[in-house]
Amino acid sequence: MYPTREAALFELEQAGQLNPGPWTAHCLHAAQAAERIAARCGLNPDKAFVCGLLHDIGRRTGICATRHMLDGYAYMMEKGWDEVARICLTHSFPLQDAAANLGKKDITPEQDRFLTEYIRQVTYDAYDKLIILCDSLADVNGFCLLEKRFVDTTRRYGVFPFTVERWNRTFAIKEEFEQRIGCSLYTLLPGIENCLYT
Ligand SMILES: [Fe+2]
Repeated sequence: MYPTREAALFELEQAGQLNPGPWTAHCLHAAQAAERIAARCGLNPDKAFVCGLLHDIGRRTGICATRHMLDGYAYMMEKGWDEVARICLTHSFPLQDAAANLGKKDITPEQDRFLTEYIRQVTYDAYDKLIILCDSLADVNGFCLLEKRFVDTTRRYGVFPFTVERWNRTFAIKEEFEQRIGCSLYTLLPGIENCLYT
């Protein structure tokens, strides 16, 4: 189950009032990227849009790091939107290993065990991969190159032993979608060149 576009937009708007910040613009741009890519490769554009829009919805509870994944999962499950709930957990783990995490562990040991086990056992589907990718194709200003987003994220969170492996996995996902579609994903993201100037 997943919400309508209208319901998802309403949730993001409310969340932005609870915890105002650039994160909501990032979510909107990730949603637009996901919708555009989905439309070209036989996925459901509405599902892709709402998954992109709500992947960081856990940030509604305030400024947090790893906790935003758990809070988002719990909130989406409460709403009955299980197909978005899983995205709240998977979107931060291109390597499918909860230990390969950039954010601070502001969660309880029990939440940590749940997250670790969830990520270990889940089989990523096309939507999990799409949102992992689109999280890195969108910033506050609009669409952006993976390279730019990676440097931005690394400047904010720092370098980890798995940093390059995460980048490589995300590039591999981009290439998977490009093979399905038969063109560069960047050609599907209008105005992406503006990221050179921001
Ligand atoms: Fe994100």
